[in-house]
Amino acid sequence: MTVERTLSIIKPDAVGNNHIGDIVSAFEKAGLKIVACKMLHLSKQQAEEFYAVHKGRPFFTPLVDFMITGPVMVMVLEGNNAIAENRRIMGETNPVQAKEKSPHSIRAKFANTIDENAVHGSDSPETAQTEIAFFFKNGEICPRTR
Ligand code: CMP
Repeated sequence: MTVERTLSIIKPDAVGNNHIGDIVSAFEKAGLKIVACKMLHLSKQQAEEFYAVHKGRPFFTPLVDFMITGPVMVMVLEGNNAIAENRRIMGETNPVQAKEKSPHSIRAKFANTIDENAVHGSDSPETAQTEIAFFFKNGEICPRTR
């Protein structure tokens, strides 16, 4: 078991639908710990920069437009295999698939379309490091002491 940190975003659809608590609860029930958290409303430039890896793909512009429709919660989750665990708890990227394959996942329960899919989670240790640094300075992350 490796203790890892990963970035989680509760997207504008899930924030707008008042599912912050449900989503945080899913992470905590699975044993992941929140070691940093803040709410912010992304600018277009921030959303474009965060998702720069997808630039040029057909869903890039709708994705950026959606991500700036309302506030998001950005969090650092910590725990054993946190990167894979977070992705398991989120479910498949497309909620239609999530509803079939992982009906108890966040996206199965709280999302309906691939464009508005409730949560984002880092997909590798390298991405996690970059994505955490995108939103949090070291001093904003609070290692658990108890
Ligand atoms: P996320 O994990 O935030 O990473 C990129 C987002 O683009 C993804 O979730 C989806 O919400 C969105 N998206 C829309 N269409 C696609 C697609 N065909 N493949 C991957 N991501 C997509």
